[in-house]
Amino acid sequence: MKILAIDTSCDETAVAVTEGTKILSNIVWSQASLHAKWGGVVPSIAKREHEERINWVIEKALKKAFPKSHFIGHQLLVTNIDAVAVTVGPGLAIALEVGIKKAKELSIKFNKPFIPVNHVEGHLLSPLARPGISKQINNSGLNIKNLDFPVLGVVTSGGHTEVVWIKTLGDYKIIAQTSDDALGESLDKAARLLDFGYPGGEILEINARQGNPYAFDLPIPMLGREKEMYFSYSGLKAAFVRLVKEVSSKKDLTPKDISNLAASYQHVAFTHFIRVLDYLLKSNKYSTKNILAGGGVMANGTLRKMLRQVAKKNNLKVLVPYSKRLNTDNAAMIGVAAYFRFKRKEILKPKELAKVDRIPRAKVDEPFAWER
Ligand code: KG4
Ligand code: ZN
Repeated sequence: MKILAIDTSCDETAVAVTEGTKILSNIVWSQASLHAKWGGVVPSIAKREHEERINWVIEKALKKAFPKSHFIGHQLLVTNIDAVAVTVGPGLAIALEVGIKKAKELSIKFNKPFIPVNHVEGHLLSPLARPGISKQINNSGLNIKNLDFPVLGVVTSGGHTEVVWIKTLGDYKIIAQTSDDALGESLDKAARLLDFGYPGGEILEINARQGNPYAFDLPIPMLGREKEMYFSYSGLKAAFVRLVKEVSSKKDLTPKDISNLAASYQHVAFTHFIRVLDYLLKSNKYSTKNILAGGGVMANGTLRKMLRQVAKKNNLKVLVPYSKRLNTDNAAMIGVAAYFRFKRKEILKPKELAKVDRIPRAKVDEPFAWER
């Protein structure tokens, strides 16, 4: 069962070929450098770039997955692919549209089943992705057979900060989410204040490694109110703006100041996330055997360490993707989620596609509009 999966939900044009949970190819064309000077993703630029790149990325993904095929271009699909999957939301409306239009076109032209996928479900299931047979690496991804349900899923990325109870595959309940900024968005804003460029989460992490996380006092959001079970990052950002202004009004910031600021911000942002999670685990309201952790911010070593500590305290294990490339946006995770949707028969025939549309605010625990 081979799937061609497409994701154009934000600023990455991503296409993968997956077989079950195995990755045959995973191509990501990042537009980050184009958006960098605007300090964030510009939807109209994202749409234009997706349109210009999508055919090229699809062909690259197909060629990489089937290097010996004598077919060329999209024709590779005819003999090799069993279904076409695409992210229908959440994401930027006009960016999502590009991938959906292409996936519909391929499904109809080559008469392949169409699998709509929720982007957050992709991140949640990214630890289940496994490398293609040829790869020799230590961590070869998680075998679904070894996963006992229910599990807790956490997604921390540029657009999402969610804790999801996964009763079983396909049965989700969001139990905590952000009330304002996402964790990655908050790190990106802090990074921008320190002139690290966009997206700055990774550079913030690199700088934070040299700094003292207790050098500056910043307020831990929702302190003592963890039982309300949501995340909030806008107040922390405002406090950081004031702090950076105050420190830099007295003197020019030294590299040491900058790494101390980065470390302090990161520490408080993660501490808030972990405190809410700890409350949730201790409450025993949601039984769980393990924690599946995905999304761009989960590539962060400090966050992974803090998450492992809190999991251990609660007798749980943390499962992350086998490669950090699967943390940030990619289409392999969409292919994996699509495979399980296919097994649940949550697919559409090419003649049913008129009703499919993008859902910019899709929730992982709600059916798609056309499924209701
Ligand atoms: O999952 P992703 O590629 O896109 C969304 O679905 O939003 O996540 C991107 C986010 C950005 O905010 C980026 O700064 C952050 O992930 N990120 C990191 C790291 N690598 C990427 N944040 C902290 N530490 C990292 N190493
Ligand atoms: Zn994402």
